[in-house]
Amino acid sequence: MSSAGGRSSEGKLYSGRLAEGLLPELERFSSSLAVDLRLARFDVAGSIAHARGLREAGLLSAEELEGVEAGLRRVAAELEAGTFAFRESDEDIHTAVERRLTELFPAGGARLHAGRSRNDQVALDLRLWCRDACGRLAVLAAGVVDALAERALAHAEVPMPGYTHLQRAQPITVGHHLMAHAEALLRDAARLRWAYESADRMPLGSGALAGSTLGLPRESVARTLGFAGLTRNTVDAVSDRDFALDLVHACVQVGLHLSRLGEDVVLWASAEFGFVRLADRVATGSSLMPQKKNPDIAELLRGRSGRALGGYTALATVLKGLPLAYDRDLQEDKVALFAAVDSAGECLEAARLLVGSLEFDTARLAAALADPGLLATDSAERLVAGGTPFRQAHHEVAASVREGTHQPPWDVARSLALRGLDAAGQARRARGEVARLREWAAALPPAVPI
Ligand code: ARG
Repeated sequence: MSSAGGRSSEGKLYSGRLAEGLLPELERFSSSLAVDLRLARFDVAGSIAHARGLREAGLLSAEELEGVEAGLRRVAAELEAGTFAFRESDEDIHTAVERRLTELFPAGGARLHAGRSRNDQVALDLRLWCRDACGRLAVLAAGVVDALAERALAHAEVPMPGYTHLQRAQPITVGHHLMAHAEALLRDAARLRWAYESADRMPLGSGALAGSTLGLPRESVARTLGFAGLTRNTVDAVSDRDFALDLVHACVQVGLHLSRLGEDVVLWASAEFGFVRLADRVATGSSLMPQKKNPDIAELLRGRSGRALGGYTALATVLKGLPLAYDRDLQEDKVALFAAVDSAGECLEAARLLVGSLEFDTARLAAALADPGLLATDSAERLVAGGTPFRQAHHEVAASVREGTHQPPWDVARSLALRGLDAAGQARRARGEVARLREWAAALPPAVPI
């Protein structure tokens, strides 16, 4: 019994150094288990790969490796089944996994942490988690692009007013407008692929910050875990969270883009626009007003983008001014990262369902197109084609609009044909991108590569 009322550091990874345990209140304050539990599968995979590396370096016998692998698989099974018994002293998932392995196989558990620190271990787990998240989110983004392309193909020739400043500007097609949202999401998918590359470097061997004297076979560990390469600088490897920030940034962009899609649907579903009818399965009613049909899903797409943005701010704030190498502040990375990825994933799924249910009201669209001002730019361009300088043409047409005498030079269909917006071609190309994204994701190493 220690003098501090029974607190002891027993069960801690550092119990040799500190005889007395942390105050229970501060244990709770510093524990990350509730959050980093989500890294469990990756922690076990990373530990198996590390154990194989120790075997290669002659630091584990064949029997010890076998025992460690069997023990770690049992730990994974217990975690998966929800039968894993956590202890007060488990301050994070890494501690919990090693503690349980040591109970199951004391001789192996005692050797596993050689050449490794939780600093490079958590960097590894997080990189594995990010790789998996990038693949999942890219597939979800592909699903929304696919849904947009499907609706765009079905409405490739349906004209609608295009807006700037939310004022009627020039005719476009519904398909063209929908493909604008698809373009943005395809850029997000490219960002997710970039975030994958960014995470795809293996940090083990960096130790706490300065590497290890044990001659660990890093290339071989990286191959086991399906990494494309190694981190190069041990100090950077335990300090770096750029890969997480890259992923959160991709999530921020997904959120921003879906918020704009959501806003379009909110506007279009209003009685004032009336461009889309919301199918019942994507609409909600009011608890008070019997006549209401509300676009809550679109509103939530608009509103929820703040979460990823908040995550970006939180993570960047943790990193700003943080001294190299590892600092405990870095533990705060996960709440922000997980919140951003979760909300991007949920929003992409909801957006796919919303887009797939959009029904356009062609009569309302046609009525909105009756405004001849929508073709004023065509009038000016026709004058230009006939040799009039553009400024003069603009002036003349503007004057005719002001006086109410403006006559469009041709109809909306001809205007669209002349501008060659080609929504169908865009949709087909986007579907090619969707297929490539799905192929890319399918060819990734398994989420848990052991
Ligand atoms: N729970 C910690 C984190 O998420 C693990 C690393 C702890 N390292 C340390 N030196 N205390 O960052």
